[in-house]
Amino acid sequence: MTTHAGDKIRLLLVDDEEGFRAAIARRLAKRGMAPAQASSGEECLTLLDTSPMDVVVLDVRMPGMNGIDTLKAIKTNHKDIQVILLTGNAAVSDGIEGIKSGAFDYLTKPVEIDHLFNKIKQAFGMIQLEEEKRQQLAYREKLEKKMVDTDRLAALGTLSTGIAHEINNPLAIINEAAGVIKQILEAPDMAQLPRQGDLLMALDKIETSIKRAGKITQQLLGHVKKQGPRLATTDMRLLILETLALLKGGIKKKQINILWKTEEKEHMLITDPYQIRQVLVNLITNAIHALDTNGTISLSIHETPAYMILGIEDDGVGISSDNLGKIFDPFFTTKSFDQGTGLGLFVVNKIITGLNGEIEVESHPGQGTVFMIKLPLNSGGMAQ
Ligand SMILES: Nc1ncnc2c1ncn2[C@@H]1O[C@H](COP(=O)(O)OP(=O)(O)OP(=O)(O)O)[C@@H](O)[C@H]1O
Ligand SMILES: [Mg+2]
Repeated sequence: MTTHAGDKIRLLLVDDEEGFRAAIARRLAKRGMAPAQASSGEECLTLLDTSPMDVVVLDVRMPGMNGIDTLKAIKTNHKDIQVILLTGNAAVSDGIEGIKSGAFDYLTKPVEIDHLFNKIKQAFGMIQLEEEKRQQLAYREKLEKKMVDTDRLAALGTLSTGIAHEINNPLAIINEAAGVIKQILEAPDMAQLPRQGDLLMALDKIETSIKRAGKITQQLLGHVKKQGPRLATTDMRLLILETLALLKGGIKKKQINILWKTEEKEHMLITDPYQIRQVLVNLITNAIHALDTNGTISLSIHETPAYMILGIEDDGVGISSDNLGKIFDPFFTTKSFDQGTGLGLFVVNKIITGLNGEIEVESHPGQGTVFMIKLPLNSGGMAQ
């Protein structure tokens, strides 16, 4: 439960003696409280189901459901409500049983009104304290999780880019050697070679795998290749157009419509155009993959005083809610071996957070997906 705004205490008086209840309510009202009233334990519980309360002042001796049973039911169903019991003068044991069952405190009748007033305020103070503790705990947990995530990703990033560097050179050599073998095998005098076809097929497999490994190293190195930030005043719309030109093969093949949702004008930002281009390539490539023939990619650029927001939207297959939490994980992919490495969005996320930006995604399976990239207008000065 969250406490309501302000300090107004939502208070409920439960007592079967109407005169007594009304008198207490009147006197509390004079002190600025506005208690609701119930005449039995049953009525109290029904009321709590529809009207949230902070504090309940509860008579113990009532016909029907007594105060202790009512208290137990309240604590079971509304554990954050604080209950103050009113016991008969000679019934201290009721009070003690009440405390054991979770009452905040008990007062004996006849009740001294200022005493009750202060008790109610104390009970409410306790609720606020617990709410604060809960919020602090939630905040700490969130922070810790974020720190763990960041550490994990930073370590993974350093390790993987290191490996990518090391793999790049042997990969280039394998690629070249495979090219040489292919050339030799395809030479006219090799036509008589036994099982030439099998050898060429094996070579094809090698080439596909080299391509995939190359794509992985290229993704991983793409965002760290540069020596320090390469910042430039960039027209973001032009950069998107350049990226579309780069990807025009795939766009044409699937006859994809490109739709601008915002006015086509200059949108200048000081940023790292190489990194942003990689972000755009990865996002638009994903959109192309998600679309059937004749699908639409919608693009938008919005500016707020502090941010430039790029929107890349497709009306493609969408992402299931199960997968949505995993798409930024390295190597998460739903694509086949030669289609995807699962690094595209991992890199996108790294680049955007490196530029102090944010990325948001919303997807509806069967309807489409939208990625929003929020870049601070002054990210230039803060880029890594
Ligand atoms: N626009 C989109 N529509 C539907 N699914 C998407 C979209 N973008 C990403 N996905 C899902 O997220 C997964 C991860 O995307 P990511 O770009 O990281 O890797 P990938 O595209 O599979 O491989 P690559 O490393 O080649 O980019 C994809 O496999 C796909 O399932
Ligand atoms: Mg991708």
